[in-house]
Amino acid sequence: MMDAEIKLTDKLERKLPPQLMDFLKSAGKKAAERNEKAYIVGGVVRDLLLGLANYDIDLTVEGDAVALAHELLGNIAGTITVHKQFNTAKIELEGWNIDFATARSETYARPGALPEITPASLVEDLKRRDFTINAMAIGLSGKNYGTLYDPCNGKTDLQEGKIRILHDGSFIDDSTRIWRGLRYEQRLGFQIEAHTLELLKRDIPMLDSVSGERISYEIDCIFKEQHPERVFARAYRLGVLNKLNALIKFDKPMEEWFARAREMSYPNAPSAVLYWLLLTYNLDIDNRERFISYLKLPKRISQAFRDCSAVKDRLELLSASGISNSEIYRLLTGYSPQAITANIIAGDVEESRAALNLYMEKLRGMKTIISGSDIMQMGVEQGPQLKKMLDAVLDARLNGEVISREDEIAIVKKMLKE
Ligand code: CTP
Repeated sequence: MMDAEIKLTDKLERKLPPQLMDFLKSAGKKAAERNEKAYIVGGVVRDLLLGLANYDIDLTVEGDAVALAHELLGNIAGTITVHKQFNTAKIELEGWNIDFATARSETYARPGALPEITPASLVEDLKRRDFTINAMAIGLSGKNYGTLYDPCNGKTDLQEGKIRILHDGSFIDDSTRIWRGLRYEQRLGFQIEAHTLELLKRDIPMLDSVSGERISYEIDCIFKEQHPERVFARAYRLGVLNKLNALIKFDKPMEEWFARAREMSYPNAPSAVLYWLLLTYNLDIDNRERFISYLKLPKRISQAFRDCSAVKDRLELLSASGISNSEIYRLLTGYSPQAITANIIAGDVEESRAALNLYMEKLRGMKTIISGSDIMQMGVEQGPQLKKMLDAVLDARLNGEVISREDEIAIVKKMLKE
């Protein structure tokens, strides 16, 4: 299978934390005792060879992966989640995730469908994968400990910076690989190799056969990248983004919005919600709604979309000269912070930006000193009158008209006399 056996024992033991390594060694040993074999596969092998840290471990087992995971957990303090229908298990251990799957081959009943699975050898398992650089494994059991398995020449492609699919029907089997390929290319600074690129372009129409949920999962993965805009810019130029939404033009200004989102969120990474809002900022409400239902986006995101459109509709009002702080507050309160931030970044009414910034930095966190119960003690019953009084006190505070608790009480007293 291999020209010359490559041992990665040193790399493995130097790069992975000792405790994780101990666990992986015991997985290999336990598998051997069961007359099975365990291997580290996929992204972690790729990253190990690149010298990058990746502690999301995928194990492939020639044997019963779920039974092996159960046996291993007998000795240690971790949690296990089993997916019976896929024959997979996940162990969470000290903040690491270790996924166990039985080596398998896959057949696709129709393009875009989830594959049908049959147990298979390691090599068959590697050959069903997306790209050569993701189709390598390292042995953990017996004399195979540390051995690199590379039936598709992934190591050479890794050295040459190439993203290459394994067979000409790969994007037809699973066209989410189109998005995955662009993501790896941009993340690693690689090139999709010429033949793969030809097939990718040929198979762009196949993206129509994939469910919205699977596409939105891929887009979420892109948002977790350090520079998602590079992936979208490339996708736009190739006509891939067009399949997500034909109205999104991912041009230079949009690339800058993404960079700005990072600056504004620093030291944290921007939330996926903010990126979703920027990606769709130029769509009108109807198209945004269509987008939400196509991708079956969760409530948390769809609500932010609606908030973002509502704030966008208020930009003219927010740019009025002489607008008071309380007016700004009343125009923006209740909308998600990401929806407001998206408008700060992407809104085209320059004069509204000061109001949006003021709200985010100061106004939205302001509170009255007195509370509803203080006003009730002054003889007011719960209801619209109480709400009106609280609002008046808050407005006065927002506008800098009150300083002390007594100032606030004075406002209520005055209203009681009216
Ligand atoms: N895989 C595949 N086809 C897909 C999805 C995944 O062949 N459509 C295979 C690849 O071998 C991949 C592995 O499954 O390396 C694990 O998938 P995933 O966790 O999505 O990829 P990683 O490479 O581990 O992670 P990342 O993309 O974050 O680097």
